[in-house]
Amino acid sequence: MKKDRILVTGGTGYIGSHTVVELQKAGYPVVIIDNLSNSNREVLDGIERISGIRPDFVEADCTDLNALKKLFADYPGIKGIINFAASKAVGESVEKPILYYRNNLNTLLNLLDLMGPNGVKGIVFSSSCTVYGEPDQNPVTEQSPIKKATSPYGNTKQISEEIITDVITSGAPFKSVILRYFNPIGAHPSAEIGELPNGVPQNLVPYLTQTAMGIRKELSVFGDDYNTPDGSCIRDYINVVDLAKAHVIAVERMLNDASEDKIEIFNLGTGLGTSVLGLIDAFERSTGVKVPHKIVGRRAGDIEKVWADPSHANNVLGWKAETSLDDTMRSAWAWQLKLRERGIM
Ligand code: UD1
Repeated sequence: MKKDRILVTGGTGYIGSHTVVELQKAGYPVVIIDNLSNSNREVLDGIERISGIRPDFVEADCTDLNALKKLFADYPGIKGIINFAASKAVGESVEKPILYYRNNLNTLLNLLDLMGPNGVKGIVFSSSCTVYGEPDQNPVTEQSPIKKATSPYGNTKQISEEIITDVITSGAPFKSVILRYFNPIGAHPSAEIGELPNGVPQNLVPYLTQTAMGIRKELSVFGDDYNTPDGSCIRDYINVVDLAKAHVIAVERMLNDASEDKIEIFNLGTGLGTSVLGLIDAFERSTGVKVPHKIVGRRAGDIEKVWADPSHANNVLGWKAETSLDDTMRSAWAWQLKLRERGIM
């Protein structure tokens, strides 16, 4: 049976591109909209090399309502949306709050506005564990308290969850699945797609692999005086392909009306906490490549420790993070090697 068309906003980005591949594998025709602000067209080639299918692609900004209207006219029959299109650098959001509120909120508002008139049945929204702030207790469940956001970026995630809730409560004719990601890392096992940050990476794994490659001199470990076993911060690092697969399940739930609930929220993590130093160890152990690093002071705004209780997603979605941390680190390294081979990094 022919499957319904899915719109993936931000589909050439890191998590978006991996999700497009999984949607295609499940038989969904995909149309991507992306303004290429933090990605590039070559990602489409990588997707095509993996799946054998080139997704439809519209280069436009989701804050442009008319561009979105045209997209719905040009690509009829879109039944589901996965919204990845957003700015995501925590530090930059503190410096440029208007940019963050405009990009992240206007994109969501435009999509919600156009869903009803275009007969779209549901939207999957990319949220973050950042909504839990510094949790009183770990692991965090979906019922753990939402803490005051520590950055405009984090605030856009909280506000977006509230906007979706308000719009659906008002009787909008569609559903939503909100996915709270922990720390997505790694790359597709084919090394055809992966994370390619602009400029100096802010996130741990791209900085680590670039250091291992000799592009950066050494990795700074931000703090070893936290209240954790080795003193460095703890996160729940989740393989990006495992994460992508959860989106396909979420889309299917909405399209098949598998749940009575019009809004569902799921944590997507492994349930395991790993420290910064533990992650460096895992990389060195699994690849045999050393990562020069030094301990420096804490980074402002960092959470000490957070990891997921993923049992809601495990039980209700039948989804589980499966890839080991070692395999994930190897995939991140294979991607870094591929970038070198292609002369990109
Ligand atoms: C942050 C956000 C998260 C967001 C993600 C995407 C918060 C609390 N978290 O995650 O919501 O989705 O960015 O960009 O706002 N580290 C180093 N050296 C480095 C880089 C990082 O030691 O060079 C450490 C950090 O201190 C942290 C860990 O590595 O303990 C992970 O950092 P990072 O990859 O930036 O992700 P988060 O800050 O957890």
